[in-house]
Amino acid sequence: MQHNFHDMYRSHNCGELRSSHINNTVTLAGWVQKVRDKGFVVWIDLRDRYGITQLIFDEERTSKSILEQAQKLGREFVIQVEGTVIERASKNPNIETGDIEILVSKLTVLNEAILPPFTIENQTDGGAELRMKYRYLDIRRDPVKNNLIFRHKVAQEVRNYLSKQGFIEVETPYLIKSTPEGARDFVVPSRMNPGQFYALPQSPQTFKQLLMVGGMDKYFQIVKCFRDEDLRADRQPEFTQIDCEMAFVEQEDVLNAFEGLTRHLLKVINDVTVDKFPRMTFDEAIKRYGNDKPDIRFGMEFGELNAVSQHKDFNVFNSAELVVGIAVPGGNSFTRKEIDKLTDWIKRPQIGALGMVYCRCNEDGTFKSSVDKFYDQEDLSKWAELTGANKGDLICVLSGDTNKVRSQLSALRMELADRLGLRDPKVFAPLWVIDFPLLEWDEETERYHAMHHPFTSPKPGQLEMLDTDPGSVKANAYDLVLNGNEIGGGSIRIHDKETQSLMFDHLGFTKEEAKAQFGFLMNAFEYGAPPHGGIAFGLDRLVAILGGQETIRDFIAFPKNNSGRDVMIDAPSPVDNEQLSELSLKLNLKA
Ligand code: AMO
Repeated sequence: MQHNFHDMYRSHNCGELRSSHINNTVTLAGWVQKVRDKGFVVWIDLRDRYGITQLIFDEERTSKSILEQAQKLGREFVIQVEGTVIERASKNPNIETGDIEILVSKLTVLNEAILPPFTIENQTDGGAELRMKYRYLDIRRDPVKNNLIFRHKVAQEVRNYLSKQGFIEVETPYLIKSTPEGARDFVVPSRMNPGQFYALPQSPQTFKQLLMVGGMDKYFQIVKCFRDEDLRADRQPEFTQIDCEMAFVEQEDVLNAFEGLTRHLLKVINDVTVDKFPRMTFDEAIKRYGNDKPDIRFGMEFGELNAVSQHKDFNVFNSAELVVGIAVPGGNSFTRKEIDKLTDWIKRPQIGALGMVYCRCNEDGTFKSSVDKFYDQEDLSKWAELTGANKGDLICVLSGDTNKVRSQLSALRMELADRLGLRDPKVFAPLWVIDFPLLEWDEETERYHAMHHPFTSPKPGQLEMLDTDPGSVKANAYDLVLNGNEIGGGSIRIHDKETQSLMFDHLGFTKEEAKAQFGFLMNAFEYGAPPHGGIAFGLDRLVAILGGQETIRDFIAFPKNNSGRDVMIDAPSPVDNEQLSELSLKLNLKA
């Protein structure tokens, strides 16, 4: 990319000068990356967004005052120089401007800088908190800077692609009424309406549906969403969605449209061509991988072993609801100590397994298990068959309550894949997970919640089952999974008032509550709502994964830390009493 500057400060940037520019007079501006002062000659690496250019000042060719000025420069000073492009005596093949340097004839200090708290280099000595506190310095470093440029490129491609497909970007409000998407709302007090609050949107869900009623037909928006939930590597309290909705569509249309977008991004951003995305039902994903967002770049599929492990005197298995194992490729090479460590790892409270049974698959075709007292070679060969284990593998088996055991084994599967290097960030394995349950039982509140959100429609013909067997009703809901991460989710919506009202009944809303919270939507449905559906991608997640990483914070310019704080601006923070009283609020802090 060519960046020509013909402005007051610079004629070129720090990444573009080559041997073809030799003898040109140029003006550059940027930050002092490094000063090497040999007394009679000074070299300075000058950095800007585009690269690094070496400056040279020497006794013979530079005036004494400029040489002395250069000697006084410190790291991160902002300077402007004028000079001539010359050939370097010793070239640096590692940087693009490595053939040339600038013999400086004029030096202006635009701004001085105090010593930065960490080095502004690719490998920095700054810890995570320190770099967050001085995020503007962190952004000067290549890894962060390049991630932001990468994000821009992805967002730009999304906008172009969707616009070409006829989608219109429409902005929806940020000061809204609570939308129930499963997380807590961030609320904003209203000064003009004492005692009343706006909520920041967890997503523009209801607005995009109203746009469909408004006839917009194909909508998208790259939009901030806000959720007050516990944070993890792939979760931020404010994050960005590529939010999309279409009218007059069935599930198949939505899947095709957004498979198209994802395929386009993989091609133009990563130069990866993928075939038609595989699809898997939610039930199948849970059974085969213990997880509704399976990473299918590698195998290690679950083998259920109840039938071949509950016929002996091993009570741990006999009393278990599910006995399930995976074959770890080449795992027979693990030492006893390594296996013990693995067992400790899954027994940590975060995972909570009670223990692990293992079976070595020897090269000579024999088996050696940790429960040889109970199981003979014939039993163990069946375990191998059901888990797909080969000679040289290790079978890891967990048992207990079905749901718990599946999620424990899923965690073990991912951990082992990480350790064995099976999660290659350059390989992309997208997957549609479809047919999600409509409702999910919540132990805490002892009632059903919408698994996706209350606007999702049940599968055709399953509405009646809401009365008899609500837990087994499936929805027209789907997730797009990429390399074990949920990068998008959506559904076909309910578009008539009766069904929506029935849905609220089943979710435990009284008629009055439903009317107060969602009357606007149900009213809109009475004025001719078209059938519609959509999806939202997590842009931060999508960008991170396309960029070969899973931590979204590194792709956000000013992220929050794990306690939801912006340590740079120090937010959240108290407000003064005057501001509170203006909002008709009074603090009631428990000591
Ligand atoms: P959902 O809640 O599944 O669906 O969100 C869509 C996608 O947004 C991303 N995401 C997040 N990313 C970062 N930090 C978070 N805290 C966070 N929460 C979610 C995920 C997820 O797949 N309105 C519906 C969409 C629809 O039905 O069309 C919705 O918001 O990648």
